[in-house]
Amino acid sequence: MFNFFKKPTFGLDISDYSIEIISLEGTVEKPRLSALGREILEPGIVEDGKILEKEKLEVILRALLEKLKFGKIKTKKLIFALPESKTFLHFFELPEVLEKERIEKEIKLQAMHTFPFPLKELYFDFKVGDKEVLLVAAQKDIVDDYLEVFKNVEIQPIALEIESISLARSLIGNQKETILIADIGARTTNFSLFDQNRLRLSISINIAGDRFNQALMEKSNISFQEAENLKKEIGLDPEKKEGKVFLILQKEIQEIIAEIKKIADYFQNKTGKKIEKVILAGGSAILHHLPEYLAENLEKPVSIGDPWEKINIDILKEKEYFEKALEINPILYATVIGSTLRGLTKEPEKAGINLLPRERKF
Ligand SMILES: Nc1ncnc2c1ncn2[C@@H]1O[C@H](COP(=O)(O)OP(=O)(O)OP(=O)(O)O)[C@@H](O)[C@H]1O
Ligand SMILES: [Mg+2]
Repeated sequence: MFNFFKKPTFGLDISDYSIEIISLEGTVEKPRLSALGREILEPGIVEDGKILEKEKLEVILRALLEKLKFGKIKTKKLIFALPESKTFLHFFELPEVLEKERIEKEIKLQAMHTFPFPLKELYFDFKVGDKEVLLVAAQKDIVDDYLEVFKNVEIQPIALEIESISLARSLIGNQKETILIADIGARTTNFSLFDQNRLRLSISINIAGDRFNQALMEKSNISFQEAENLKKEIGLDPEKKEGKVFLILQKEIQEIIAEIKKIADYFQNKTGKKIEKVILAGGSAILHHLPEYLAENLEKPVSIGDPWEKINIDILKEKEYFEKALEINPILYATVIGSTLRGLTKEPEKAGINLLPRERKF
């Protein structure tokens, strides 16, 4: 089936550390990679998900959109995942099956009592399951800064979603099991628990790549850059550097393990279900031996997510690209691929949480 009338979209992910851009062609069932790009951001342009230097970001975005590493972006329509640290999630159950109006009233009440900002300072969206509601909010001023940047570089967002849901689209797909995604980035690790393909829980902790560096800096008296290099070279290999790096990093990783165990206990008490497997994402997931170390400690299968699994990536095998393609680490694109997959659905605007400011809502 060709859908001539469907407007193509592309996906964009902006974090403190980097920007990723992806475009896919084809269908949700058979997506084909058509463009890919990435740019490292110097510190201070985006901090903890907030844009501090709009103009600098615009310059970088414009340049990136104009010249990607692979392929071309042929559309202005964008699906964007807001930084997880700047979105608020709240899960609750409706007391009974309610009419639409009463549901909205109940949701408004919940929002008023849950989020740390007045309602008028937030954008909202929600999704009602059987009885469970997922309510999502983001601060207007944070979102508006992104929208302003997009406007200035002439791209048009059609959906703003949340990272954990983008990630799941790319790494979980249709799997119905109880799966925990641990997105271990630079500043934070986000845990999101999916069951029957629905987001059930989302928690962030401040232990991730930066903290690993911090620990190495303090214990070995080295600079941030030296710590970064050491971390990437040795990781959790107990055989290297007399096991010193391993010991220092292990202590931090143990905190991540403790948090996963807490989440597992909580979910099991609530639903009787066990987490069946853990999928890792984020740059820090590449830490040497991390999946094995976690699997051993958690006594569950742990693997690094593979966003390429269901995507045709023949473009990367083309002669002009082949060598550059070897440098690509797919896990760094997991979030943006998930957003882009949403663009291939029939009505991307409505295919899930959308925090793009629209008329309705409270
Ligand atoms: N080979 C590697 N081994 C270990 N860590 C790595 C490796 N490559 C990158 N990292 C770490 O990954 C982190 C960046 O990951 P990512 O791009 O997912 O972060 P982010 O999304 O910008 O951060 P956050 O989600 O915390 O805001 C950095 O801390 C970096 O040191
Ligand atoms: Mg991240």
